[in-house]
Amino acid sequence: MWFSSDNAAGVAPEVLLAMTNAAPGWAMAYGNDEGTSRAADMIRDRFEAPEAAVYFVATGTAANSLALACLAEPWNAIYCHQSAHIEEDECNGPEFFSGGAKLALIPGEHGRMLPEGLQARLDRTAQGDVHGAQRGPLSITNATEAGTLYDPSAVDALSAVAMKADVSVHMDGTRFAYAVAALGCTPAELSWKAGVDILCLGATKNGAIAAEAVILFDPKLAWEFELRRKRAGHLFSKMRFLAAQFEAMMTDDLWLELAGRANATAGRLADGLSKLSHANLIHPVEANLMFVELPRRIHKSARAKGAAYALIGDLDGPDDEMLACRLVCSAQTTGEEVDAFLKVIT
Ligand SMILES: Cc1ncc(COP(=O)(O)O)c(C=O)c1O
Repeated sequence: MWFSSDNAAGVAPEVLLAMTNAAPGWAMAYGNDEGTSRAADMIRDRFEAPEAAVYFVATGTAANSLALACLAEPWNAIYCHQSAHIEEDECNGPEFFSGGAKLALIPGEHGRMLPEGLQARLDRTAQGDVHGAQRGPLSITNATEAGTLYDPSAVDALSAVAMKADVSVHMDGTRFAYAVAALGCTPAELSWKAGVDILCLGATKNGAIAAEAVILFDPKLAWEFELRRKRAGHLFSKMRFLAAQFEAMMTDDLWLELAGRANATAGRLADGLSKLSHANLIHPVEANLMFVELPRRIHKSARAKGAAYALIGDLDGPDDEMLACRLVCSAQTTGEEVDAFLKVIT
């Protein structure tokens, strides 16, 4: 009963096989190999973006930090939701790699920003005043940290505000596959067609070992990205193995199959939780992860029976008090695991 994180899940066999197949023989280093070109072409093709520049790095933090560094000047504000991963969990990586840009936080229910919230924060920026941060890129996380989604029209509405303010749009898509699989839209509709300039497309949380693609839909920043990636230590000499992971993911849309599987299991878990009078789902469940409040005594017994998941708060405290937790499904989470967990917390 592992619901702690999709990062705690293993690796899809197809990804391992692709890496094994890429292993023998020689290939040009630093991304100048055929496998890297092939994987980038597959992404361009799937995103209907023939002009896009596509680069691979090993972590979501590197992808976000390097992408935002290309979009933000050191004196810029980067607009994002107050619970964004770049705010809470990247150890000031975006601020560091951009040379000093600061994050401007926007509140919003269920992990989502609204256009009005973005507009209000843009209006509060001291644009043109030498003493204050100047307007910089908008960063949207999809799927959000709360496990909710922006559909293409919601992304488009935020991008329209950004475009009017003359700022670019970054998307933290470390769980983009889960969003596309759940929404049933095309990858293009949820990214460049909705105004996204740079998408950080995750694979690690969806069954890869360590691979994230940075997709620059407008390739004008491609060279700058290459230089930034190199000096950040993410230009892998054996790039073919990062690329092989994406080649496997893009082949026959494995990325969406895996994400769809996880979403379906999460739906089953959410259904079960919604039937429990002592469980309180905090956000709508729209992808592969959810936040739920349960009495502390339930957490204690679930943990004693081997369930693994992240608590938001301290297990020590009154037994009947509610305590929130985060439950995450991956493609390897089974229906049986979900049912066993539901039994344990009933
Ligand atoms: C929304 C989001 N963005 C980015 C990341 C960063 O990924 P990594 O841990 O590979 O740096 C994570 C990791 O959990 C995440 O949840």
